[in-house]
Amino acid sequence: MPPYRKFIFICYGSDCKKAGCKKLQSEIKHLVQSHEHKGKYKLIKTKCMDFCKSAPLVVINNEVLKRAELSVVKKKL
Ligand code: FES
Repeated sequence: MPPYRKFIFICYGSDCKKAGCKKLQSEIKHLVQSHEHKGKYKLIKTKCMDFCKSAPLVVINNEVLKRAELSVVKKKL
């Protein structure tokens, strides 16, 4: 059985794309592939999650991160 992995959801709706979710997604991807976090997380791209005014949006551990930045995401891992 594969090891348990936590999910990280990243919104790929149009407003979040305008707010830079692609760049954030690649930064988070590099972070979770680092030696420290390898194999612990799975990134999922989602459609709009209805928090468009707070883009870019990331959900980790059932917590919604509004106007997400890499530094905030790092603290939540
Ligand atoms: S586009 Fe991301 S929450 Fe709507």
